[in-house]
Parts: sequence; structure tokens; C-alpha cells
Amino acid sequence: MGRSLAKTCTILLAITMGLVLSGCQNFQREPDNSLYLQLGERSGIANIVEDLLYLIVDDDRINAQFKGINVAQFHSNLTDQLCELSGGPCEYSGRDMREVHQSMGITNTQFNALAENLILAMEENNIPTAAQNRLIKRLLPMYPDIRHL
Ligand code: HEM
Repeated sequence: MGRSLAKTCTILLAITMGLVLSGCQNFQREPDNSLYLQLGERSGIANIVEDLLYLIVDDDRINAQFKGINVAQFHSNLTDQLCELSGGPCEYSGRDMREVHQSMGITNTQFNALAENLILAMEENNIPTAAQNRLIKRLLPMYPDIRHL
């Protein structure tokens, strides 16, 4: 009787440990939204994108490309994209990056100019340098789809 009780206890303990461990695993698999929080969530990102737009308009290296665009659509889509990319609860629903940019003939200098303006916009919004770098790092894989081939 005593042995079977001990056996039952061991089994229960094993099940409990299993549940605790799988709970920990689930916790580790939670998406990392720390960058999203550092950027000030979606409203903070929307402010950054707004300031980016002003900087683009003033930048002769790239402003010609943006002439006549739908500003509200660009603002909302880029905000969603940066929100999703930083681990936030947004879903980018704009066009494919290659499709949008391929016919623009974007040079390396222009790509860098946009990245530079994004950094300036983040500076203006007091985003810590480490967070700025984290966002730029996540954008870099898009480079082959955006620059002119
Ligand atoms: C990492 C760099 C870049 C990212 C993440 C990015 C992202 C985006 C996004 C999300 C859109 C909106 C797409 C849509 O509304 O469906 C867009 C549109 C646009 N992008 Fe970029 N872009 C980048 C670089 C550039 C560069 C370097 C230029 C030009 C110098 C540029 C010019 C444009 C223009 C003109 C549009 C508007 C197109 C239209 O509405 O017809 N982008 N971009």
C-alpha cells in the first residue's frame, strides 16, 4: 500500500514537473517585443514615421522619388511594417517590398539616405542608440529587394 502510494506520488510529481517545464518552454517561445516597447509601441513608431516623412521631403537625395505618393497610406503601411518587425502586435498589409521599389532605380546612396533619415527621426524621438541599431539591423535584410538591380 505504502509503495503504491509512493509510486502514485512519483508519477504525480513527474507530471507536475512536466507541466512546469512545458510552461517554461512556452514562456521562452513568447515573441520578444522588447524593441517594440523601446520604440514607444505603435503610437511611438507612428511619430517616428511622421518625422521621417518630413526629413524625406527636405532631403534632395531622395525626395524626388516620393513625389505624388499617397502619404497617409505610406505612413500607415510603414508604421505597421516597423511595428511588426520590432515584435509588436501589428500585421503589415502593404505591398511586397520588391514589387514597390524595383522600378524606382534606388541607388546605394539613396538606401543609406533613407536609413540615415530614419536614425535622425529616432533621435528626434529620444530612442536609445541601442534600439535604433536593433531596428536598422532588422531592416537590412530588405536591402536586396529595395535597391536597383
Ligand atoms: C529599408 C528601407 C526601406 C523600407 C523598409 C521601405 C518600406 C516601404 C513601405 C512599407 C512602403 C509602403 C508600401 C505600400 O504602401 O504598399 C514603401 C513605399 C515607398 N518607398 Fe520604401 N522602403 C525603404 C526604402 C526606400 C528607399 C531607399 C526609397 C527611395 C529613395 C523608397 C521609396 C519609396 C516610395 C516612393 C514609396 C511609395 C510607393 C507608392 O506608394 O507608390 N523606399 N516603402
